[in-house]
Amino acid sequence: MEDRFITSSKNWTDAEIENSLRPTALSQYVGQEKVKESLKVYIQAAKSRKDALDHVLLYGPPGLGKTTLAHIIANELGSQFKVTSGPAIEHAADLAAILTNLGKDDVLFIDEIHRLNKSVEEILYPAMEDFALDFIVGKGPSAKNMRLKIQPFTLIGATTKAGMLTGPLRDRFGVICRLELYEPQELQEIIKRSAGILNIDIDPQASLDIAKRSRGTPRIANRLLKRVRDYAEVLGSGRITKEITDQALAKMEIDELGLDFIDRKILDSIILKFGGGPVGLETLSATICEDAGSIEDVYEPYLLQLGFIARTPRGRVALENAYKHLGLPYPEVK
Ligand SMILES: Nc1ncnc2c1ncn2[C@@H]1O[C@H](COP(=O)(O)OP(=O)(O)OP(=O)(O)O)[C@@H](O)[C@H]1O
Ligand SMILES: [Mg+2]
Repeated sequence: MEDRFITSSKNWTDAEIENSLRPTALSQYVGQEKVKESLKVYIQAAKSRKDALDHVLLYGPPGLGKTTLAHIIANELGSQFKVTSGPAIEHAADLAAILTNLGKDDVLFIDEIHRLNKSVEEILYPAMEDFALDFIVGKGPSAKNMRLKIQPFTLIGATTKAGMLTGPLRDRFGVICRLELYEPQELQEIIKRSAGILNIDIDPQASLDIAKRSRGTPRIANRLLKRVRDYAEVLGSGRITKEITDQALAKMEIDELGLDFIDRKILDSIILKFGGGPVGLETLSATICEDAGSIEDVYEPYLLQLGFIARTPRGRVALENAYKHLGLPYPEVK
């Protein structure tokens, strides 16, 4: 999976450049209008009451801008931003230390919050609800429950798997935002903005072509922009034109919808090996030798959005659009 150009999970080459491309204010954050609209109201209200913003849960597929949005929320609030992640907090005491060190109205960002372990998660409940830590002092009959007050803060949790969050944790978030895949026009705007920052000369048609092949995901849009720039520098004058874009994407085996060989393998397999489905996720994963988790998180969201596949209780089925895209006849009566 590391070799894929269009995987939406992060790889090492992204890290350096992502920081420079990250919008820092809500006004620079493209798309996600509904989410931005409601966050604006909550942020303004919290600021005018001089209160901490309610805890926010951001969820959606990788690369859609959860981490970026968390930074922006802290910026807009004018608050300190502290970052950690579910797997990084091993012990309850680690989290207790982080929480007691927070200042008033700070923002604490916990990435991959679905990966917190149970004992750590339990520390969070009273912290989120009452800004307090509960702990037991002493042993046996003389043991006492103690409560330690902490500063009011805002927790921002991010996850690609909202379904894996426990009920009690999810219920403690006042604001829950689901990020959606982006429209090509929105991605085009992101590409133009990134091209400006990176000093890349790009034709409007080329930016739209890259946008259409970015699977609704800003991280992929930025990555394709950089790869196409490499081709433009080697094959042409450095300017990204439609011709260079077409050539570069063809070389990367990315088709006009942004599907690569793994997507095609998934569709081929459902249609040709399983008669169009339904086929279970595990079976599909074994057939094409791809991890079930990445099929579910990385490939499927886009195939579902294109209306190429559907999830049914009995498994995945291929829809008419997928047959058309692959140039295969659609069996009318199944
Ligand atoms: N709405 C947006 N406007 C402009 N650029 C964006 C937007 N959303 C994301 N990006 C760009 O995409 C990159 C990836 O976004 P980000 O790291 O926030 O995704 P994520 O949802 O946190 O992904 P992951 O689930 O892998 O942690 C950012 O560096 C940023 O440049
Ligand atoms: Mg992130």
